[in-house]
Amino acid sequence: MENPKREQWSSKMGFILAAAGSAIGLGNIWKFPYIAGENGGAAFLFIYLICILSIGLPVLIAEVLIGRTTQRNPVGAFKKLTNNKFWSYVGKMGIITAFIILSFYSVVAGWAIGYIVESAKGAFQNFQEPAQAGEYFNSLLLQPEWNLFYLLVFILMSMFFVYFGVQKGIEKGSKIMMPLLFILLIILMIRGITLEGANEGLKFFFHPEWSKITSQTILLALGHAFFTLSLGMGVIMTYGSYMSNNDSIPGTSLSIIILDTVISVVAGVMIFTTVFAFGQDPAQGPGLIFHVIPVVFNQMPGGIFFAILFFILLALAALTSSISLIEVVVAYFVDEKKWKRQKAVIFTGVVGTLLAIPCSLSYNLMSEVKLFDSNFFDTLDFLASNILLPLGGFLLAIFVGYVWGLDKAVENLKIGSEKFFEKYPVSLFLWKIFIKYLAPLLMFLVLLDTVGILKVVKNLFVE
Ligand code: PHE
Repeated sequence: MENPKREQWSSKMGFILAAAGSAIGLGNIWKFPYIAGENGGAAFLFIYLICILSIGLPVLIAEVLIGRTTQRNPVGAFKKLTNNKFWSYVGKMGIITAFIILSFYSVVAGWAIGYIVESAKGAFQNFQEPAQAGEYFNSLLLQPEWNLFYLLVFILMSMFFVYFGVQKGIEKGSKIMMPLLFILLIILMIRGITLEGANEGLKFFFHPEWSKITSQTILLALGHAFFTLSLGMGVIMTYGSYMSNNDSIPGTSLSIIILDTVISVVAGVMIFTTVFAFGQDPAQGPGLIFHVIPVVFNQMPGGIFFAILFFILLALAALTSSISLIEVVVAYFVDEKKWKRQKAVIFTGVVGTLLAIPCSLSYNLMSEVKLFDSNFFDTLDFLASNILLPLGGFLLAIFVGYVWGLDKAVENLKIGSEKFFEKYPVSLFLWKIFIKYLAPLLMFLVLLDTVGILKVVKNLFVE
């Protein structure tokens, strides 16, 4: 029986913008530049693009498809398609992953909000080079109250949207915010390209040094492909569950992927041209954009205004992503446990905050506390992005290819996509091959490598 009360997006565009709102966030503007910077620039970009096309796209389509077909949250969706209990645990893994991502994500989003205030105060006005901005950033990180305060502000803002229902909030907000963010990024990119010495940055980002590619690069690129597309934990499934049967899944999925990738590449060009123009090291880790952005704006007329606007948009881009993280958990409690939406939002917010606090303190009071060799923040990020998301994506592909079955999947996929497949018949064939064979195989190899099994096997042969 269908759930008559379940909400739907108001239009196809509404779904694309909400899903793009979830996909586009700190992953594109904060994370992508710094991991590319630490992992060889162009070499990383290249592997990342391969991961997006060969794994991201087919898995994204599969996730939207399961959501739309079942009209359920991730746990309920698997339950509806199979009696095997194992799969509802896979759905639950997604709910746990949402909490983990929310915890470190909110810390960085908090920095972005804090930077709106800092720019407005004129704190960056005298910075001539990124080193000064870097020092300033590090001094802020050392203040637990600064970090905790903005973290809380961010989580409360995210809860607010989900509390009062997301559809109108996100759909409307995304329509205004996303184009603005895009325009601002392009302005900054042009500014970056026209700086003296920008060429070095472009070289770093577009001319791969193949020797820099290690299995670590591949793992990080795959993990990032999942992270940036919000894949592998049920966000896209949940958003897909509010989609109408009239809309084409491959068409909308392509739009989401293109929007997300273009934003990352533009952000990369903007950051690397600037970093190299100022003779900085691109491998500075999570603080990279906070070191670079304040200085770029200083060199522009109307800098303060642009800096404030930039950090507002960064915070808003993060907000549409964190809303989607909270929405998955809320949809689970509302559908499966029959909780009221409001209760679910408060519960998710409180647990999310409790987890976020140690992440926030891992740059000051708790910097000595190690969890698997790294601080709390880095460990949770690694666990979610490089293990749980690819594992979730792998299991999803196995589910579609071998448990639910390609026949049923294709039958449902064709609904609303008749024209698309008539026009591009080969796309259906490719999707089947990738989702059943290639994507799971690639993800399996990368995951094996993460847990170190490939090394053991390699050593066996070498000896
Ligand atoms: N895709 C978001 C970003 O790039 C992060 C995210 C990951 C959101 C997973 C939801 C789920 O910022």
